[in-house]
Amino acid sequence: MISVRGLKKEYKTGEASLFALGGVSLDIKEGEFVAITGKSGSGKSTLLNMIGTLDRPTEGTVLVDGKDLSAFSGKQVAEYRNKTVGFVFQSFYLEPSYTVYDNVELPLILSGSPSKNNRERVEAALEAVGLISKIKEKARNLSGGEQQRVAIARAIVNDPSYLLADEPCGNLDTANSENIMHILSTLHAAGKTVIIVTHDPEDARKAERIVTMSDGLVVSDVENTPIPAQTEEKEVV
Ligand SMILES: Nc1ncnc2c1ncn2[C@@H]1O[C@H](COP(=O)(O)OP(=O)(O)OP(=O)(O)O)[C@@H](O)[C@H]1O
Ligand SMILES: [Mg+2]
Repeated sequence: MISVRGLKKEYKTGEASLFALGGVSLDIKEGEFVAITGKSGSGKSTLLNMIGTLDRPTEGTVLVDGKDLSAFSGKQVAEYRNKTVGFVFQSFYLEPSYTVYDNVELPLILSGSPSKNNRERVEAALEAVGLISKIKEKARNLSGGEQQRVAIARAIVNDPSYLLADEPCGNLDTANSENIMHILSTLHAAGKTVIIVTHDPEDARKAERIVTMSDGLVVSDVENTPIPAQTEEKEVV
């Protein structure tokens, strides 16, 4: 369970001050699939980054599974980012010269997982995104859609409770975007809590709940009946 309470983020540039978040309160229960949407500059990424400990609030709290993120030590933050949450970004941030296997294994190495279990876990994560056939390929040789699927595999390899995705389809065409949204729906159906930031209403409609932001505030928070996920895995290149 994620509990956001009175969250504010102020950015000061010289004399000027801007509240990227003006006081956001929001609960996300385990197993939800939430889309955070809204115009550019409305504070979507700022909110997601606070939940992911990539940024610190000016005021307010984020409790995850009852723990106040701002009270975490450096070691706890590292562990939280490695094991509790998985991140996916618009830019895939893979190591281009590494193989797909090595990219996906990275969080396991960082978490000190015994390497004899790693292959099994990397393969399972790659199966989940339909990319096992590319396991030996260098990341730089993959298409954008494939790279994002590797990034998702990397995000889930440690089996985090929460998957946070900031515009995961932002650099992809329609067919690849559909494929990524289908994968996220499947992960949600398998029990993961998925939070996606998107400015695309089509993508938002794949979620069960749509939170809309404007000027650093939540202006709407509604249940949504998702458009059913495609049953067949599309091969997209
Ligand atoms: N490091 C920063 N310094 C100053 N202002 C910032 C900083 N980061 C974000 N902002 C401002 O905070 C506001 C919210 O930014 P944020 O990135 O959260 O918006 P967003 O909804 O994710 O937008 P987009 O859809 O374009 O990604 C914007 O006005 C932005 O310019
Ligand atoms: Mg953003």
